[in-house]
Order: sequence, then C-alpha cells, then structure tokens
Amino acid sequence: MTDTSARTPYGTLPAAAPLPPRKPVSLPRLQEMRERGEKIAMLTAYDATFAAVADAAGVDCLLVGDSLGMVCQGRPSTVGVTLEEMCYHTECVVRGVRRVQGTVWVIGDLPFGSYQTSREEAMRSAAALMQAGAHMVKLEGGGWTVETVRFLVERGIPVCAHLGLTPQTVHALGGYRVQGRSEAEAERLRRQALELQDAGATMLVLEMVPATLAADITRQLPRCHTIGIGSGNGTAGQVLVMHDMLGIHLGRTPRFVRNFMEGAASVRDAIAAYVAAVKDGSFPDNTLHAW
Ligand code: KIV
Repeated sequence: MTDTSARTPYGTLPAAAPLPPRKPVSLPRLQEMRERGEKIAMLTAYDATFAAVADAAGVDCLLVGDSLGMVCQGRPSTVGVTLEEMCYHTECVVRGVRRVQGTVWVIGDLPFGSYQTSREEAMRSAAALMQAGAHMVKLEGGGWTVETVRFLVERGIPVCAHLGLTPQTVHALGGYRVQGRSEAEAERLRRQALELQDAGATMLVLEMVPATLAADITRQLPRCHTIGIGSGNGTAGQVLVMHDMLGIHLGRTPRFVRNFMEGAASVRDAIAAYVAAVKDGSFPDNTLHAW
C-alpha cells in the first residue's frame, strides 16, 4: 500500500488521502480560479508545523497575520507586534510550506507603525517581509493607503489591502464591531475598495462587513480578489484565524467562526474540511455566520 504520510523535519504528518498534485498558487492562478468561480481558501499560520499541515491539507493561501500578537503572544490587540516579529514568523511559515508541497501563496502582514509614516517606510518594511519569504504583503485601511499601495505595486510587490474592521485601528473604531452598516459607511467602503483595485491591490480582506455589502464589493472588483472574514459567503475567498477554526482560543470565539475540529479525526482533516467547505460554498453559512 502507498504510504501517504508527509515527512517533515518536525515529524511525520498523519496519513490522509493523497492530494492531487497542485500547481503553485500565483497571481495568474488566483485570477484563473476567480474566473472559473473557484473560491480561495486561506488560513492564518504563524509557525512551520501548522503551515506544513495546512499545505498538506490543501489551503491555497496562508496569511502570517499580526493576529499572532493575540494568538501567540497573548496581547490584547495586534498593535504591539513589531516588524522583526512578523519577519521571524514569516520565515518559520515559509520553511514549513517548502517542506511539504510548497504550493501555498504566503502573505505577510505589515504591522502597525511599519507603513503609516511614508511610502518609503512602507517599501522598506515590505522588502523585509518579502526577503523573509512572503509572496505578498498586507496593509490595513483605505483612502490614505492608496498611494502607498501604488508605490509598492509599481516596485514589484503584490499587495493585499484590508477594509472593514481593521484591527490595528480598533481603538479608533471603538471596538471589534461590524463596519459598513449605514449607507454612508457602505458607500465609503465601496469607493475605497475601487480605489485600492485601481492602485493595483490584487487581494482585499473584508472583515466584519454585512454580507450584502461584501458581495457588492466583490462584483465591482474583477481584478482584486475579496477574502471575507465574518462577511458572508459572497466573497471570492475566505480566511479564518487557524486557532479559531480548530476551537483553540484564549477569549470568546467570534460568531462567524465554525469549529472544524468537531467531528474531525486530526488537525489535517479539520483543515481539509474547511478547504472543502469554502470551495463548495457551505462555509460561511449566511444564516449563521454573517450579519
Ligand atoms: O492578522 C490577521 O490574522 C488578519 C486576519 C484576521 C484577516 O488580518
């Protein structure tokens, strides 16, 4: 019988049904997936072992999110995370994925205070994440970020933007709450999303916005793939914090999370179930996981 377990320097991952060989995820491949209506399955990852398991389970993209400030460091928010820490975790994740399939698209989060002062500061910080092995960088906010996005994209750095609930500005937003409920706020988010696409952003995380608004924004952005978190199932893809979807967390789980460990025999199976549910559109369920 064929041995389907994946050997990594960190141990042997449990045997599971072998995945069909996959092409590495790239910007053209993401565009192809979008055009044929295949949803993008993304999770966060912060270390080599979980990154290797996620790769083996078939995720398309891994986000080395600054949520590691809360998940790994036990901070109350993402605000205290440094660029040096982001580079360290990005290197760990990239080593993990290179040991298994090596097909995953890795996104490194620019932490608070590493891109706000000037486009040059953003470029230096983005270069550090790319040198740590990221394929794309993510930054939060709209309006003032447009020129920064254009500056990075013109210099060869793929950019993922992030609108809606932007955790780095949680204090200014007054807490972790749904964004874009009023028509004026929704209109501002629609406009900012279009500006970010025009500036060259090829991915856009939409966090905690109403499902109908996220679906509208998705339709108006053919070249920028929306990735929803707590924003319903009308986006081009989904992301969750890995620990949340495995049912391990320090605080309250947000309402939009499903625990994929329930009924799963292993972490790898739980992640594979998440990937399958994103791809077939059964997660998120707008009646349970959206506003
Ligand atoms: O930092 C993070 O993990 C994120 C996701 C929650 C989208 O930004």
